[in-house]
Order: sequence, then structure tokens, then C-alpha cells
Amino acid sequence: MELVKTIQEVRVAVKAWKKQGLTVGFVPTMGYLHEGHRSLMDAAAAQNDKVVVSIFVNPMQFGPTEDLEQYPRDLEQDRNLCEAAGAALIFHPEPEEMYGKNFCSFVDMTGLTEGLCGKSRPVHFRGVCTVVTKLLHIVQPDRAYFGQKDAQQLAVVRRMVEDLNMDVTIVGCPIIREADGLAKSSRNTYLSSEERQAALVLSRALKAGKEKLEQGVREAEPILAVIRETIRQEPMAKIDYVELVDAETLQPIDRVERDALAALAVFIGKTRLIDNFIFTI
Ligand code: PAF
Repeated sequence: MELVKTIQEVRVAVKAWKKQGLTVGFVPTMGYLHEGHRSLMDAAAAQNDKVVVSIFVNPMQFGPTEDLEQYPRDLEQDRNLCEAAGAALIFHPEPEEMYGKNFCSFVDMTGLTEGLCGKSRPVHFRGVCTVVTKLLHIVQPDRAYFGQKDAQQLAVVRRMVEDLNMDVTIVGCPIIREADGLAKSSRNTYLSSEERQAALVLSRALKAGKEKLEQGVREAEPILAVIRETIRQEPMAKIDYVELVDAETLQPIDRVERDALAALAVFIGKTRLIDNFIFTI
């Protein structure tokens, strides 16, 4: 496995593979890899001849008061995990390699990016769309892998790829959870042991909402109410949002008649965590 830092090195490697008729699966990440990322790499390895992983903490997707500086980093551990997963190449650029001195071109989206996380993170999806576009242009993969944990990101990337006719298949992969239900996230590392315990309220609240749906409730209000009520029982938790939206358009719904996404963001202390489930009709 090779680790490269320049766009040129990625292009040379990928061109050589393509010349041999090999397929390329791509897993974009911000590093501090965990089993969630491992599952994306495993899916990529199962469906492609070569797997490329990018490790880049993208400054453009962080707001001015967000955790860009504290975002956890451990390249050695990441390298070992990628190696074990059978990745062929890690792309680990410096910010200057991705955003040159005169950088002023962005990829932006309306609609899907305005609700849910977009409300409290107004610059986030412009940063995600811009960096994912750049990474897809650099790596030119056949398939790219994104976790369902960032449900809005996955929906946004799917739409962007369709709207802008990008020649890549986007593969969504299920959320990977700890044994007690907490969705795996690099940001879980910010939690104290007390907060780690309190964070279980996210999956517990979603489970309560899912049970309502499974009992046949279709009105959004009682489903949202049980989720909110469960979260309010945890004193360390503060709701950022709890929403029930159409799984494709991400627009809020009053009633579940098509596939729906129940999504939430909750602060546990200073740490903002997200989780969700899709209810399939
Ligand atoms: O999900 C992430 O880790 C990031 O948003 C991504 C897709 C790597 C873009 O920076």
C-alpha cells in the first residue's frame, strides 16, 4: 500500500490501473478511521480491483466556530487500518495541495442542503460538495462509498452526482454501531465516560420512534414527539434538531407515505452527534 500526498501521484497510479482494465473503489474520509470506515473499505474491496482511501480534514466544510483544530488525527493508526483492509493507495494531501492560493471555485446546492444539519452548519455542504467533486475528479473511481450515518451527506452527494452527470456510482453503506447502540463516529472520542453513557439516548430515542412506525403510526407528530421526549429525559442532552423527512428530497413530511428518514442532531455536552434511520415503505 502506498501513501501519497500529491494529486499527480494519485493520477499516475489510477491511470496505470485503468490501463490494465482494473476497477477503482474510492472511500473519502477525514481520517481517525474506525469500523464504520472499515465497512466502507470492505464494501469497496468486495466490488472493485483497487481501493483508494483519502484522508483529508477538509477545512472548507467546518464553520468558524466548529472543531477543525480539535478534529482527531492519527495517521499511523489510519495507515494500519487501510493496510489491513487491503487498500492499495492512501491520498493524504495538505490543504495547500487541495486549495491553491487563488482558489475561488465552489460546488453548491440548494434545497437538500438547507434543512437538517444545513440549518446549524450553513457552510458545511458547500465544503462537502466542493471537496467531494474535487476528490472524484482526482481519483476518477468507478464507485465511491459513503456511510448512511451521514444521511444528508449521502443524499446530497447522490443528487450532486446525478445533477452534474458525474461518471461514478455512489454506494451507500449501513450505519455501524457500538454493541450498546451508539453510532460509530470519529467525534465519539470527544466524549467523557459520563457523556459517552448519555450519548446512548440518540439511538434509544430513534428506536422509540421506529417502534411507533412499526406499530403502524404514520403521522409525523407522534413519532417526532416520542423521539424528542426520550431525548429530554437525558439531562446532558440538548436537541439541535429532530426531523422526519422524505428520504430522497429531505423535505419535512406530515405523514409517512414513501420512504422516510428520521434524523437527529443532539449536543451531549459540547459534542454534536448525529444519528438516523430510514423507514422503508
Ligand atoms: O464524511 C466525511 O468524512 C467527509 O464529509 C468527506 C465525505 C470525507 C468529505 O470531506
